[in-house]
Amino acid sequence: MQLPKPGTIEVVPSILSADFARLADEIAQIESAGVSMVHLDVMDGHFVPNITIGPPVIAKLRRYSNLAFDSHLMISEPARYAERFVEAGVNHITFHIEVADDPAELIDRLHELGVTAGICLNPDTPVEAIEAVAPLCDMVLVMTVHPGFGAQEFMPKAAKKISQVRKIVGPETRIEVDGGIDPQTTPIVVSYGADTLVAGHAIFSKSDRIAAINAIRDAAK
Ligand code: DX5
Ligand code: ZN
Repeated sequence: MQLPKPGTIEVVPSILSADFARLADEIAQIESAGVSMVHLDVMDGHFVPNITIGPPVIAKLRRYSNLAFDSHLMISEPARYAERFVEAGVNHITFHIEVADDPAELIDRLHELGVTAGICLNPDTPVEAIEAVAPLCDMVLVMTVHPGFGAQEFMPKAAKKISQVRKIVGPETRIEVDGGIDPQTTPIVVSYGADTLVAGHAIFSKSDRIAAINAIRDAAK
């Protein structure tokens, strides 16, 4: 259960818009669509104005899924909680540059703990903020909405940063994009160099999740 090697387009369903009372079933449905990862949005009510799930829920879900767990930590103290998420069974940890005291040190520690590492930047954070550490990451996450809620409107200006990130990291690092991704916005972010497409509302608001995932895959071609 690792990040797939760069060079493929991956649609990564975000369970933020799933039915939280039936998470294991919801994940099983997207697993049957042949995705390789599921995106777990962790919010602390401090870094972002919303609260979701943490290690206890993730540890229970781990028993029900073979997908790579792509955890997106929207929390104020990622270094403090990293081990807890690894113990719960995540395979990848993305943390936000805005709250990282020593991002390079945390990336090293995540690698020592046996997970891949990602850095994320908010729509208002310039790419320069991650220039030094992005090449140390396995995946860089570019937010195309302000983090905290699903089903928000895609921000075209934020998406433009993907091209800048691609220049910095080259072809061997995944670039994930998160926020307002659907069949309409997918061609835009793929043309900028994104290869890992997080989608919540566009998948879980539909009754046929497999068709919704395939619609994004088709739009990426
Ligand atoms: C927002 C989260 C996203 C969210 C995206 O803070 O990080 O992962 O689920 O949701 P959609 O795809 O609905 O914009
Ligand atoms: Zn996310």
